Amino acid sequence: MKTFLGIWAVSSLLLVSCGNRNTVKDNFVKDNVENAVAQYTIQTDIIEKSGRILNPRTIREDGSIVYVPIDDWTSGFFPGSIWLLYELTQDSKWKTLAEKYTEDLDSVKYLKWHHDIGFMIGCSYLNGYRLAQKSDYKEVIVEAARSLSTRFRPAAGVIQSWDSDKGWQAQRGWKCPVIIDNMMNLELLFEATRLSGDSSFYQIAVKHADTTMKHAFRPDYSTYHVVDYDPETGEVRKRQTAQGYADESAWARGQAWAIYGYTLCYRYTGDERYLDQAQHIDKFIFNHPNLPADLVPYWDFNAPDIPKAPRDVSAASCTAAALYEMHTYLPDAGYKAKADKIMESLSSPAYTAKVGENGNFILMHSVGSIPHGAEIDVPLNYADYYFLEALIRKRDLASN
Ligand code: GLY
Repeated sequence: MKTFLGIWAVSSLLLVSCGNRNTVKDNFVKDNVENAVAQYTIQTDIIEKSGRILNPRTIREDGSIVYVPIDDWTSGFFPGSIWLLYELTQDSKWKTLAEKYTEDLDSVKYLKWHHDIGFMIGCSYLNGYRLAQKSDYKEVIVEAARSLSTRFRPAAGVIQSWDSDKGWQAQRGWKCPVIIDNMMNLELLFEATRLSGDSSFYQIAVKHADTTMKHAFRPDYSTYHVVDYDPETGEVRKRQTAQGYADESAWARGQAWAIYGYTLCYRYTGDERYLDQAQHIDKFIFNHPNLPADLVPYWDFNAPDIPKAPRDVSAASCTAAALYEMHTYLPDAGYKAKADKIMESLSSPAYTAKVGENGNFILMHSVGSIPHGAEIDVPLNYADYYFLEALIRKRDLASN
């Protein structure tokens, strides 16, 4: 517990730093905030005029906006982006909307049929708790962590990502599939321990991170997408992909989830092994010969049709957010320069949409899942979310 309390202090410092209220000081951030506000004002005006609570995820081929139900894995990102706009502008209009869109997700705290509750409640309620100090949000966060913990398989030492007997996953013959994305859900568990004092969430998060470090990476520190475990013995049954090009390829968003995931594990634990892991993943990404000069990766580092393959902006924005945090731990390692370069690329007309276009999302050119033929070269709400988070981190580093 002593170690935990020490780390609690570290993480609190980080949260204070991420949550400070410095005014925007440079034009890069200012211009991008103005653009984001313009797009999301159109987006939220449409929602408010509908008289319902709609949750935008992406667009269809005809340009119409896809809205998702609250149990969709991406349902936390749009409310989360509204919180981040509030953090960037301090305009109470965004706080009011963020509360409304967040509280629509209340019953998600009981969701137990997939692991993504960490994304869903983390981006919405955790940001709300941090920025608005709403004490009733704490109960939702802790209940959600309880729900996520029901998916922990002690013999294997992992949180099971997907059920193996439902949907398209049932065709794959998995018993306990764990995807690298799951690293992102650990933030919910760490925060739930911080808020409740119940260390069981923290212990599950650490175990999951350790098991994943052992089994989900290749010698070059690229990550597999899916590792299937025997939940009774912990034996690794298969290493495969679901959304990447091939089982042995490096799916770009998977690398982004990995670098962000191990960075957040270091934030809460202070365990150097996690920061080392994030550094190794950074080297894999940024030394890769297929990484384009603008640092926005193709959807898979081994996509067969590079350089014609679609880019994945969501991988780039998530990586940028992680790199800014890594810079706070290792200020001389060049992480900020890489993040700045990604942000410069993303904010250019090549990736930032004109106001009123692109379904009113900020960024174009992300990829959901090429193997499923879904969401290819489109805006995605999570690309915008991590872009806004990276913008806040960039702003806060500039003002410190
Ligand atoms: N977590 C699902 C995805 O990255 O597409």
